[in-house]
Amino acid sequence: MKLSKRLNVINSLITQPLDIIWDCCCDHGFLGMALLERGIAKQINFVDIIPQLMEALEQSLQQFEQGKSLPSWQVRCEDVAQIKLPTDAKQVIVIAGVGGDLCLKLIEQIIANNPHSLKQLSFIICPIMHLYKVRAGLKDCNLQLDSEQIIVENKRFYEVLQVSFNATGTITKTGAHMWDTHNPQHHQYQQQLLDHYTRMLNKDRLYYQKVITEYQHVFER
Ligand SMILES: C[S@@+](CC[C@H](N)C(=O)[O-])C[C@H]1O[C@@H](n2cnc3c(N)ncnc32)[C@H](O)[C@@H]1O
Repeated sequence: MKLSKRLNVINSLITQPLDIIWDCCCDHGFLGMALLERGIAKQINFVDIIPQLMEALEQSLQQFEQGKSLPSWQVRCEDVAQIKLPTDAKQVIVIAGVGGDLCLKLIEQIIANNPHSLKQLSFIICPIMHLYKVRAGLKDCNLQLDSEQIIVENKRFYEVLQVSFNATGTITKTGAHMWDTHNPQHHQYQQQLLDHYTRMLNKDRLYYQKVITEYQHVFER
C-alpha cells in the first residue's frame, strides 16, 4: 500500500503491537489498509460519517483481503464523536485530514464519552490548520506529548502530534520540540504562520499579537 508522506509518517509512528487502531475520518481508508497489512494491531476500525464512502471501502477491503491473512477489521459508518471505546484495550485513535476545530471537538467528545478507556489510549493527529488552538485544547484535556513533527507534503505544511494521558512531555501551543533552525522549510512554515496571524490581528489584536510573539520565538528554545 503506497501512502502519502503524511500518512506514511503516521503509519511509522505506530511501532508497538496494539489491540485496536481506529482510523477515524478515514475516507479512502488507505492508512488503515497499510496498518492491516502490517498486522500491528489485532483489529483495525475504519470510521467515517459518509455512507457511500463506507460502502465503497467495505467492498475495497473485501477485495484487499483476498488471499491474505489479515487482522480483523470493521467498517463503521458513524460520527467519530460517538465512538464507544472498549475499556480494557490498548488502542490508538488516528484523526488526520480534518480541520483543527473539528479534530479538537472530536477528541474532546471521545474523552468525555469514554472516561474508563483512557489509560491505554493514545491519539495520533494531523489536523489541517489551527494547530495553536488545537494544542491549547489538548492541554486543557490534560493530554501529554509523546512526539511532534512538521511535515511538508505538496508544498503544504502539517504537524503530526502523538499524545496520550501517560506521556511525559508537555504540550506547548507552538510546538517546543519540532522546530529545527537548520531546516529552511521550518523557517518557511514559521513565516506562513506569522503571515496568517498578522492577517487575523484585526479580529482580536490582543490575542493574535500574543500568538505572533510566541511564533516569533520558536527557534530560540
Ligand atoms: C479529507 S478526509 C481525510 C482522509 C484521511 N484521514 C486522510 O488524512 O487522508 C476527511 C474525512 O472526514 C470525514 N468526517 C468529517 N467529520 C466526521 C465525523 N464527525 N465523523 C466521521 N467522519 C467525519 C469526512 O466524511 C471525510 O471523509
